[in-house]
Amino acid sequence: MPVRVAVPKEVMPGERRVALVPEVVKALAKAGVSVTIETGAGRAAGYPDDAYTAAGATLVADRRTLFGGAQVLLKVQPPTLEEAAWIAPGTVLVALVNASRSLDRVAKLRDGKVAVFALELLPRITRAQSMDVLSSQATVAGYRAMLIGAGLCPKFLPMLTTAAGTIRPAKVLVLGAGVAGLMAIATAKRLGAIVEGYDVRRAAGEQVRSLGAKFLELQINAEAAGGYARELTDEEKKQEAAMVAKAVSEADIVVTTAAIPGRRAPILVREEMVGSMRPGSVIVDLAAETGGNCALTKPGETIVAHDVAIAGPVDLPSQLAFHASQMYARNLQSFLTLLVTKEGNLVTDYSDEILAASLLVADGTVRHRPTADLLAGGKS
Ligand SMILES: NC(=O)c1ccc[n+]([C@@H]2O[C@H](COP(=O)([O-])OP(=O)(O)OC[C@H]3O[C@@H](n4cnc5c(N)ncnc54)[C@H](O)[C@@H]3O)[C@@H](O)[C@H]2O)c1
Repeated sequence: MPVRVAVPKEVMPGERRVALVPEVVKALAKAGVSVTIETGAGRAAGYPDDAYTAAGATLVADRRTLFGGAQVLLKVQPPTLEEAAWIAPGTVLVALVNASRSLDRVAKLRDGKVAVFALELLPRITRAQSMDVLSSQATVAGYRAMLIGAGLCPKFLPMLTTAAGTIRPAKVLVLGAGVAGLMAIATAKRLGAIVEGYDVRRAAGEQVRSLGAKFLELQINAEAAGGYARELTDEEKKQEAAMVAKAVSEADIVVTTAAIPGRRAPILVREEMVGSMRPGSVIVDLAAETGGNCALTKPGETIVAHDVAIAGPVDLPSQLAFHASQMYARNLQSFLTLLVTKEGNLVTDYSDEILAASLLVADGTVRHRPTADLLAGGKS
């Protein structure tokens, strides 16, 4: 019997992505996996039902049947409480669970004996790169953020020599040069702006410069375990603030992407820095969802303060749903090679390093320690 994989339509308001796209369905079908898709699941991302059936998927309109009949459920967002109740014990769920923000759902899945793989927990090792949904979705977010910045900016980004005279190029500053920041820098360069990038990890400097942008240097290196940033000391924060303040005051567009895993995003742009910017300048804060890198950011809104537009988008990958879904689906295809053997059987031994690290819930137990602690604290 082939492994039965199912993909429901995402129901979170504003979510346009879908977990599998027809191209990946076709590859899975070829590998002997049976794929069921909820009717209309890919429509918002630009993938019609007939493209899925042509790729070998079966369409199901009844959501309850789809959730209850799968061996492996693939999603983008965590299931709702109602959806979680429909999932049969022993089912494997793979999604971006964001456990700390969906504890009620995690508890329900635990009690329902669902095996849950949370893709945000994937280790960032070379072997997991092709599965790394955080990277693929951050790539989309960085690109989209730069376009939002360009759209809000009342200036051209490139230098222009026209009959009406010469136009000077806009200055773009990108704070945080991880995956999203580097993509924002690359996009700003393609648009012809003068670009500066900054990150607390010194290793990011080389990557920023390789894109043709200037790297703002601070004499510290805050790279910690796993290539992520550590929190800065108070003295380091002062030095950083002075340098960032100057760069912000000179920029036409500031894109902020700074994050520290598991913590509130650091405030890099304080209110007085916003006040120092030229009227019409723009800030796009990618960290809006985790508290924002700008003190004035309002998640999900674009506001104007001190004559500066401040955008705090929280759904950037969803805004570019076609390619965000395609990349996500390819990541899942790669992840599934760990869960389904070449002979077409579902793996039940989760000792592989990648599976073990991303396993959030199994056999009625929360395996991820920080989530288990949070649940114990909330007595769920
Ligand atoms: N499989 C892999 O090997 C793999 C995959 C993806 C990413 N990575 C690496 O992991 C690192 C983090 O990637 P990410 O994009 O997920 O990061 P992230 O989203 O956690 O953070 C974004 C950036 O913000 C920076 N930052 C944090 N505090 C800051 C501050 N106060 N000021 C300025 N910048 C600050 C971080 O250093 C990071 O570069 C990068 O080096 C990336 O290349 C490795």
